Amino acid sequence: MKLEVRPMLKEEIPDVLDYFLNAPKSYLRKMGVEPTLLPKREEWRDTIWRDMERADEAREFFYLAWIQGGELIGHTNINKIRYEEDAFMHLHVWPEILRRKGMGTKLVKLSLPLYFNKFKLKRLYCEPNALNEPPNKTLVKAGFEFLGTEQKIPGYINFLQQVNKYVIKKEAIRNHLKL
Ligand SMILES: CC(C)(COP(=O)(O)OP(=O)(O)OC[C@H]1O[C@@H](n2cnc3c(N)ncnc32)[C@H](O)[C@@H]1OP(=O)(O)O)[C@@H](O)C(=O)NCCC(=O)NCCS
Repeated sequence: MKLEVRPMLKEEIPDVLDYFLNAPKSYLRKMGVEPTLLPKREEWRDTIWRDMERADEAREFFYLAWIQGGELIGHTNINKIRYEEDAFMHLHVWPEILRRKGMGTKLVKLSLPLYFNKFKLKRLYCEPNALNEPPNKTLVKAGFEFLGTEQKIPGYINFLQQVNKYVIKKEAIRNHLKL
């Protein structure tokens, strides 16, 4: 089935929130997310929606929709965006049944040029929990380079954990960029 990636629409953001807010606590903790730190639904939605009104240079987050055969089946987003510099990526195939079939790797590869082009990035980082095997394997397959392991709180919904830090540089996907 055809895979597509495009900027997420405002009205699709609640689906992202449902994915997190309805997830089992054990699933969230495996990703390094502390369930009690998730924002309240409306507050979270409004923060993302407000950010969507901003100019690219001032964006905090940016969400891409992952679509299979016309169905929204997951998302990737970046945060800590420093325009013309770098950002941090996150990746999620929502239905468990669709994971581990090779789609995540393809969807990450399709997502990279959209991030690099829109925010004129030089580097894109990802810091999955070191014990969470799927993203660690997917990032390497998608062309990310392993930088090392660090103990940190990677984001405002996370607990202190060992993260593996990966990077992909603009040069690695140059052929897909509008330079
Ligand atoms: C991370 C994620 C987006 C990857 O997408 P995916 O469609 O499952 O990935 P792929 O099928 O392309 O697999 C890529 C690699 O990861 C491996 N992998 C995927 N799921 C795995 C699992 N549960 N256990 C071990 N390896 C796994 C695959 O085997 C493959 O490696 P291989 O070819 O060497 O065998 C998806 O698994 C997911 O959404 N997981 C839950 C959310 C999550 O943990 N997100 C990361 C937060 S940082």
